[in-house]
Amino acid sequence: MNDPKRINGFSRLDKASRRNWLREQFLDTEAATVLSQFDVDGALQEVLDNFSENTVANFPMPFGVAPNFIVNGKTYAVPMVIEESSVVAAASAAAKYWMPRGGFGAEVLSAEKLGQVHFRWSGSPERRAALLPSLCTRVRAQTAHLTERMDARGGGVRNIVWKHLPEIAPDCYQLLVSFGTADSMGANFINTVLEAYGQELRRWATDSPELTDDERDLEVIMAILSNHTPNCVVRAWVSCPIEQMNVPGSGVDAADFARRFKLAVDIARQDTYRAVTHNKGIMNGVDAVVLATGNDFRAIEAAAHAFAAQDGTYRSLSRCRLTSDTFHFELTLPLALGTVGGLTKLHPLANLSLQLLGQPSAEELMCVMAAAGLAQNFAALRSLVTTGIQKGHMKMHLQNILSSLNATTEERTQAECHFNGKTVSHHAVRAFVESMR
Ligand code: MEV
Repeated sequence: MNDPKRINGFSRLDKASRRNWLREQFLDTEAATVLSQFDVDGALQEVLDNFSENTVANFPMPFGVAPNFIVNGKTYAVPMVIEESSVVAAASAAAKYWMPRGGFGAEVLSAEKLGQVHFRWSGSPERRAALLPSLCTRVRAQTAHLTERMDARGGGVRNIVWKHLPEIAPDCYQLLVSFGTADSMGANFINTVLEAYGQELRRWATDSPELTDDERDLEVIMAILSNHTPNCVVRAWVSCPIEQMNVPGSGVDAADFARRFKLAVDIARQDTYRAVTHNKGIMNGVDAVVLATGNDFRAIEAAAHAFAAQDGTYRSLSRCRLTSDTFHFELTLPLALGTVGGLTKLHPLANLSLQLLGQPSAEELMCVMAAAGLAQNFAALRSLVTTGIQKGHMKMHLQNILSSLNATTEERTQAECHFNGKTVSHHAVRAFVESMR
């Protein structure tokens, strides 16, 4: 059957032809005009198009700023790219709440990344200890030209461990390599080095005088970084006297608020259903800064959730502690970030975000991002254990619906007044706006 919706060579079409084909096969004429609605001028459009393949349009997202973030005594206006209403407002409110209470503290606990080369080998596991030192010397020497510049920046290969993986197959092995990547996320660097290690492993098996003939069968399966980064971890915290934990307008006093808040965090430490939602709230803050700074949100998400489940049960990434008079709230999570390389310079808004943050090192950005995650978590729990989140959400929801109805300023004012304290639904808002028209 000749189905016109199937195509060969889509990637070889220019953008106008791709759009034409989509219009002919899938879109109505009005929808097709949206494809070009967000185009930008020549050189910049080319930069954006080069990030990906088969591009047909730009996909804009709101870029907001949460000001008043005090992290380790320094004031930041934190850039956030996110489509969910209330997130930037919540981060800003939490930052402002903590500003007079000492702000956020944050420290990088470790900044090491990992990569693996998996291979099959005919030698015996017991031989590893004797062979590893010269193998290490050899792979390091063969890749010195690849690591030289990273070494000079304080990074490079830190350690190599040779693991036997008999649970997979009796002849299955792994080189587990740890790296420092300075201010870059380092994915390209790590993968390049690991692939070179794979090639050198093959040569080593063929020509190393240390090996017997029975030890020369080696097959490299794959060489790739690990996005599990339990050694690239940051901790952020807030703390203040419990008596200062007042939440005006909530009807809950400071001590009661602190008690209810701690209980909410404890529930998320124990109950996976709650922990996933709790951590999603943390990632609302983290991901928004990850996107704004041109970092890899899939890598950050994957690592965070693996870390949350590191003892075998998925748990909250944050913890709360009350001493007799003090409230402590902290977040520990892995953040493998870069402030150089990748999109960070190429995407004009990622570049701008880093300027907004004062051109931070990767470690400083880890601290700010963790503070944004903790702020988000604080704001969500503060609402949940006092007024509930819908009160705040409904205001934003109402604005979004009014925008979709192209409401005038006067209609907005009337609707805000009418829906104050009432449930907001698309149907009800449309009916109200139409009654005014
Ligand atoms: C919504 O995006 C995030 C929350 O559900 C987080 C939470 O429940 O802690 C409000």
